[in-house]
Amino acid sequence: MSEELKKGLEGVLVAESSLSFIDGEAGRLVYRGYDIEELAAEASFEEVLYLLWNGELPTREQLETFAASMAEDRAVDERVLDTAAALAEADEEPMAALRTLASFLSSDDPESDVAADDLDAARRKGRRVTAKIPTVLAAFDRYRRGEEPLSPREDLGHAANFLYMLTGEEPDDVAEETFDQALTLHADHGLNASTFTAMVVGSTMADLYSAVTAGVGALSGPLHGGANQDVMEMLLDIDAAGEDPVEYVERRRSDDDGWRVPGMGHRVYSVKDPRAVILERKSEELGQTSGEAKWYEMADAIEHHFQAAGLAEKGIAPNVDFYSGTVYYQLGIPVDMFTPIFAMSRVGGWIGHTLEYQAENRLIRPRARYTGPTEATFVPLDER
Ligand code: COA
Repeated sequence: MSEELKKGLEGVLVAESSLSFIDGEAGRLVYRGYDIEELAAEASFEEVLYLLWNGELPTREQLETFAASMAEDRAVDERVLDTAAALAEADEEPMAALRTLASFLSSDDPESDVAADDLDAARRKGRRVTAKIPTVLAAFDRYRRGEEPLSPREDLGHAANFLYMLTGEEPDDVAEETFDQALTLHADHGLNASTFTAMVVGSTMADLYSAVTAGVGALSGPLHGGANQDVMEMLLDIDAAGEDPVEYVERRRSDDDGWRVPGMGHRVYSVKDPRAVILERKSEELGQTSGEAKWYEMADAIEHHFQAAGLAEKGIAPNVDFYSGTVYYQLGIPVDMFTPIFAMSRVGGWIGHTLEYQAENRLIRPRARYTGPTEATFVPLDER
């Protein structure tokens, strides 16, 4: 009897979760019951992390305590900074650098040797690694630009402090709010590839740093987190060539059948991604205030072309990455830091899901349908 094979685990239920709910047909995303629009507009990223990890929104006092602990956790050991410098010297890609640094951060955690089934300790480890990732990313970027890293500032929020450590300047209110919203929008999204990867590692009761490091690896691919960088590179390409954006995508599509417009299409949404709706507004606003409206306009032209061609109806509509690239670019963030920034936010979901799963753990262990031979005759090495 043949069992049904679900390639890519599409639609397969593997766990129960109360973290995020996605209605792919209605274009709705909810964290613990709250619509993403409301959270992005009203709550800080720290508040959203608290919500994801604790199940409910914090009171003012709880938030102050949590945010203060996170701010204290931001500083990293000299050895970690030296490793960031060595990775910059070796010309590593930022996601490869983050993969190494996320792993090495466990050496800077006072509870690194506490067993994974101590979920309170795991929650504290989660807070520490989430607080430190922006510090190592900013340090890495500054080293490769030949600059010394800046110490984190405890008086700034998570979003503002990262922009400060990266650029050396305290961001204005618009930049801070925009970046904080972008972090909230990327924080969780059900069992996407990187979150599932983190959960699989967590299900062996491995340490949280292993789960986070594995999440970084999964996020680095162009079919997942890498798409936001690809979108901006496409727009920069179009701009450099002075080509019409619609002609550009049509030319690339006809030159190569398999070419996909980055930032378009989604496994779960059959309509426009609700996060793209918010980021599109932000991209347009930033374009108006900075006088550089062209990035938004190019992306918008491509989106409209897909709508007119009937592709949006088939679900090939903007996903979260389509407009986040233009937003980050307009905030002055280097293009190859876009995916690490995604990681800086999604680490919230990796940790939330891993801890939720470990609380009722069962080792994740699927099967493959074997299609190889079963009766091969072994031929000694010298006779082959
Ligand atoms: N541009 C053009 N065509 C696209 C497309 C895109 N971005 N995304 C999907 N399609 C087409 C496919 O070519 C396919 O057409 P076909 O049936 O004629 O072969 C159809 O839509 C279905 O695609 P499929 O690969 O089965 O969808 P999926 O659910 O497996 O893929 C993605 C989802 C995200 C991997 C895919 O849309 C993609 O590669 N997008 C670009 C990368 C990206 O933005 N990733 C970030 C996701 S958050």
